[in-house]
Amino acid sequence: MNPVVPSSRIDWPQATCQLFTGSLDELVRADQLSVALAETPTSQVILRDAAVPFGALEPVRGWLRQRAPVEEFEFPGGESAKTFDSCLSILELLATAGLDRGGLVIVAGGGALGDAAGFAASIWHRGVPWVAIPTTLLAMVDASIGGKTAIHQGGVKNRIGSFHLPRVVLTDPSFLDSLPLQERTQGWAELIKAAWVGDPELLAQLESDPGSIPRDKIPTSHQIAAAVAVKVAIVGSDPFEHGPREVLNFGHTFAHALEMTSTTPIRHGEAVSRGMVFAATLAEEVSIAASGTASRISDLLERAGLPVDWSEAAIEPVLSSLLGDKKVRAGRQRWVLPRKPGEMVVETIPQHIVERVLGSSGPVATEIPLSPEGSHDAR
Ligand SMILES: NC(=O)c1ccc[n+]([C@@H]2O[C@H](COP(=O)([O-])OP(=O)(O)OC[C@H]3O[C@@H](n4cnc5c(N)ncnc54)[C@H](O)[C@@H]3O)[C@@H](O)[C@H]2O)c1
Repeated sequence: MNPVVPSSRIDWPQATCQLFTGSLDELVRADQLSVALAETPTSQVILRDAAVPFGALEPVRGWLRQRAPVEEFEFPGGESAKTFDSCLSILELLATAGLDRGGLVIVAGGGALGDAAGFAASIWHRGVPWVAIPTTLLAMVDASIGGKTAIHQGGVKNRIGSFHLPRVVLTDPSFLDSLPLQERTQGWAELIKAAWVGDPELLAQLESDPGSIPRDKIPTSHQIAAAVAVKVAIVGSDPFEHGPREVLNFGHTFAHALEMTSTTPIRHGEAVSRGMVFAATLAEEVSIAASGTASRISDLLERAGLPVDWSEAAIEPVLSSLLGDKKVRAGRQRWVLPRKPGEMVVETIPQHIVERVLGSSGPVATEIPLSPEGSHDAR
């Protein structure tokens, strides 16, 4: 059984979120959970990702039943959960259950179902509280933290969404037992990102200890909690991404372009992995990062079984997608770039440099000085 790791908390002016890591069995017995969810709801709806074994939620089911009536629905997970139609189906389930303004929504699933059902909770009766039970590694260390909810529209990822912090996040690493290896691997992209962005100790452990990324890709509770802590600290200080939270987009500018232009479905972690190496290569190109930074990041990602090159990406569509990205301001692309571990900068990079890196297939060691138009405007 996984030990309970002390809880952490996000405090925003208008919302709070308490995060617990440990076995569900132990978590439901912990007094802190009753305190965090002190208000008795009128009714409760569980939305369970269809891939999550029914029995895995038994401890939570039992605990919820003692508080108020519970209705449970199984819902298909994966990116198809983030369509407009799926979101409508979720809202219809809430209607079927008769969930009123005093109700509580509990979502057990991967990041996709969490994003869609969290969004549905945010608009149901103008917003009802919800509890996130992340069941993939990526959802545990990233998607369930920070209150961003979203669905896709018109081929654009996360175009419709809201900030709606879950009241509580229950992270039980044993959900990873049923998660296919390839899906576990996805989460390592975000775990490594967290280590690089904000936890030098975790980074040192990952880099120095060959056993720190196990063959079965199930991290320890402490590795998960360390990655969670990085995101909690950042989103706690910048709820709506007006400043520090932007560093969490490390790897995501390029990842979104890949995800939107790839002719075959591409997993989020795999896209972010390539995106981090791409950003690090850009950082080397403009002499923000020391030579070797991109290889250092790609070594770790490769050890986790993630792809790190973009040789198969279609250059033209990726470029036009990058230009349409929300991080483009006045025709210049904004990038989150690593200077060194724990030190990220946000820069606008001239398109010709982006094109040059895109034309290479992976990390390059040469340092090319900035052209006059490439003056830095780090914020
Ligand atoms: N809101 C945020 O801040 C945020 C951050 C990062 C990513 N995301 C979003 O998260 C999504 C990716 O999330 P993901 O990687 O969790 O993928 P996912 O939700 O698509 O889940 C991957 C697959 O695993 C299945 N699954 C889930 N839990 C399982 C379990 N315990 N056992 C067996 N199968 C299980 C799902 O049904 C799905 O088929 C993307 O849509 C991305 O945009 C959101």
